Amino acid sequence: MTTFTLEPLTAADGEFRLEVYRATIKPYIDDLFDWDDATQERIILDQLGAGTHAAIVVVGQRVGVLQVEESPEILSLSQIEILPAFQGRGIGTAVVRSLMARGDREGKSLTLHVFRANVSARRLYERLGFVIAAEDGPVTVMTYAP
Ligand SMILES: CC(C)(COP(=O)(O)OP(=O)(O)OC[C@H]1O[C@@H](n2cnc3c(N)ncnc32)[C@H](O)[C@@H]1OP(=O)(O)O)[C@@H](O)C(=O)NCCC(=O)NCCS
Repeated sequence: MTTFTLEPLTAADGEFRLEVYRATIKPYIDDLFDWDDATQERIILDQLGAGTHAAIVVVGQRVGVLQVEESPEILSLSQIEILPAFQGRGIGTAVVRSLMARGDREGKSLTLHVFRANVSARRLYERLGFVIAAEDGPVTVMTYAP
């Protein structure tokens, strides 16, 4: 299994956060929403202030971003983005599996939102054991129960 660590991101990591955003999710936002780049980037930087983002680090290199929000019963996988050069190497699978294992240990369900158009990410989550809980416009809500 791919070994990774998580390194908390702070408001000072805005450039890295935007680099990953632009290379991964931005195309979906551009297709779906009539938001200009400045608006998109302000939203992304505002989210970083929540203190729930981490860099995914493999062999000392920051390869992506993970955001997990927690409540007493649920782990919400709010963002997972791997830079294109590192996609398809098992990193995303390892990160999601580790969250599923944590959910199993803590008796917490996992939930995530994925764009309906993001067929390959949906396929990945289904393969790992997530099921579709709802379709909400352009977004599919998926869950995993421990
Ligand atoms: C989706 C994503 C997190 C998966 O991480 P990863 O490290 O590439 O995934 P793994 O190597 O563990 O697994 C490969 C699977 O990921 C999915 N995947 C690979 N590249 C992808 C991409 N560019 N976009 C979406 N899903 C992708 C596919 O399901 C692939 O399986 P397949 O070979 O059967 O098609 C990553 O590809 C990514 O960041 N994609 C762009 C942003 C995104 O879609 N984030 C998820 C939003 S909910």
